[in-house]
Amino acid sequence: MDINGKAAIITGGASGLGEATARRLHSLGAKIIIADMNKEKGDAVCEELGEGAAFSLVNVTQTDQVQATIDLALEKFGSIDILINCAGVGMAMKTVGRDGPHDLNVFKQIIDINLIGTFDAIRLAAFHMQNNEPNDNGERGVIVNTASIAAWDGQIGQAAYSASKGGIVGMTIAIARDLSRSGIRVCTIAPGLFATPLMMALPEGPRNSLSAQIPFPNRFGQPDEYAMMAQQIIENPMMNGESIRVDGALRMGPK
Ligand SMILES: NC(=O)c1ccc[n+]([C@@H]2O[C@H](COP(=O)([O-])OP(=O)(O)OC[C@H]3O[C@@H](n4cnc5c(N)ncnc54)[C@H](O)[C@@H]3O)[C@@H](O)[C@H]2O)c1
Repeated sequence: MDINGKAAIITGGASGLGEATARRLHSLGAKIIIADMNKEKGDAVCEELGEGAAFSLVNVTQTDQVQATIDLALEKFGSIDILINCAGVGMAMKTVGRDGPHDLNVFKQIIDINLIGTFDAIRLAAFHMQNNEPNDNGERGVIVNTASIAAWDGQIGQAAYSASKGGIVGMTIAIARDLSRSGIRVCTIAPGLFATPLMMALPEGPRNSLSAQIPFPNRFGQPDEYAMMAQQIIENPMMNGESIRVDGALRMGPK
């Protein structure tokens, strides 16, 4: 799908991987909605990008707010052609820790944001994408989700995070099959370790030990290297139903 002139919603677009993708799509001529909980950063990015960029304040766990974002895109741009799901949170808690068993509410909260929030945006956006005029390839929309290599290589303390990301990987082919009749493609990017505020919030010790494990290139990924993959998924008509690791050959150890 040609990106120029298309309308895109980027959840989590105020920071990190989502912000880089918002910037890249906008630079390629897309009209974008940054849908994020962080109004200050979201507004600042939109202001910098100027015309064709708008902010929507949304917590992806609140379906009425996700719907309001869809409505805003339709009102401003007349369609939704691209959905990038980047909103997500990380956290660490062991199944059984020093203070007892894993807090079940924390587990549910991570699933709610990362997995259910992603699915909610997909189902509500795809409902409108299916009405788009198809292009010459029969495409009406493209959806890109964000998992993590923790979907497969979950480390100590990552039960909830890995479950949420494994859920995204698992549903990718099912949703791609569901939406195939409508000409909507769905892929998931599974990033390794990227230099975003989420990652930089880790203490320096664990951060250095993590980056030392990346075979090549032996460094954190840059957010725009994620955005490059999102661009390829949007532009390449054969990309569908797959989860793609973008990780410099990293296979994470237990810790
Ligand atoms: N950075 C990495 O190395 C890495 C690796 C693997 C996966 N990921 C995944 O990539 C995605 C983006 O992460 P990032 O590193 O860019 O983080 P980030 O913290 O820089 O950006 C995440 C954005 O999501 C927003 N957000 C969080 N919860 C939200 C909610 N409930 N509703 C709406 N917006 C919400 C935040 O406000 C923030 O702007 C996440 O899903 C994360 O799990 C990141």
